[in-house]
Amino acid sequence: MDRQTVFSGLQPTGNVHLGNYLGALRNWVKLQDSYDCVYCVVDLHAITVDYDPKQFESDRLEAAKVLMATGIDPDRSLFYFQSQVPQHSELSWILGAMTPTGVLGRMTQYKDKVAKGEAANLGLFAYPVLMAADILLYHANLVPIGDDQRQHLELTRDLAERFNNRFGEVFPIPDALIPETTSRVMSLTDPTSKMSKTDPNDKSRVLILDSPDVVRKKIRSAVTDSDPDVRFDPAGKPGISNLLEIMSACTERSIDDLVEEYGSRGYGKFKDAVADAVIAALAPIRNAYENLDDEEVARIMRRGALDARTKAEGFQQIVREATGLAAL
Ligand code: TYM
Repeated sequence: MDRQTVFSGLQPTGNVHLGNYLGALRNWVKLQDSYDCVYCVVDLHAITVDYDPKQFESDRLEAAKVLMATGIDPDRSLFYFQSQVPQHSELSWILGAMTPTGVLGRMTQYKDKVAKGEAANLGLFAYPVLMAADILLYHANLVPIGDDQRQHLELTRDLAERFNNRFGEVFPIPDALIPETTSRVMSLTDPTSKMSKTDPNDKSRVLILDSPDVVRKKIRSAVTDSDPDVRFDPAGKPGISNLLEIMSACTERSIDDLVEEYGSRGYGKFKDAVADAVIAALAPIRNAYENLDDEEVARIMRRGALDARTKAEGFQQIVREATGLAAL
């Protein structure tokens, strides 16, 4: 039987953080051992907000470098910039023609962003359709993501079914791969909202490339509560529960085990241990990042785009034939 295909994407908005890593990127890396993986720096998704083109160019390259530093291996995985493969956009249009606008209006990420003052442009509104096109273009079976993308994956599955019902069985229905813990790493400054790239407060997130000193400072100043017990209680103790999840993911020790060790030793000791664990988990990534050469990474991305285009052209033909858009 053919190997199954994995697809996932990361927006190059700078600030790649521990939530991205523990929620999604760690799984991206692991899946390379047993699947055909397609990983994409989704630059078209990132231009729905106002941006500076020069800065964006360097953010795109940095995102590619961070992904390679975490362990994305361009010799094993198809790895490229979304904008360099125009088949994403064509499929997005075709799927958009079958997406009710009411469904898009109910997407929580869209509603949240508009509520926070982002311009409600067509790109932001249609964003989940482009995401569905990314995934379906390669007939992906599995999509490693964090919890915040769950609703977008549901839409992708609906669109795949809708397409198959109307035009014949073309797309597999993709499954989400969402980790059991750390599917939603929370902000260090407000543990009731998720860690995010766009929070104006730098202390709310640990960046993958933060130095050990900075990591320690951010974790020491993480918002907790006044009851000194370290125990797992996401509703009652969201800050401590978040740190327990982070430490558990970084050390591969169970939360119970950590609570047993740190339960009554006070927050200071616990936070130091969390910082040590995060610093140790990020150290190899920072080292690998330092050793990457910009020119070489740009060359790898150009090669990735060529390979991806070749593959995407084949899949594009299947969709064009099914929908009556083939060359006559
Ligand atoms: P993006 O760039 O915002 O985030 C990349 C991945 O990180 C996950 N993530 C988190 N996981 C746990 N805790 C957090 N605090 C946290 N914050 C972010 C996200 O769930 C995501 O998996 N729409 C996507 C990009 C995308 C995509 C795709 C993903 C475009 N096309 C196709 C999968 C398949 C996004 O904005 O991710």
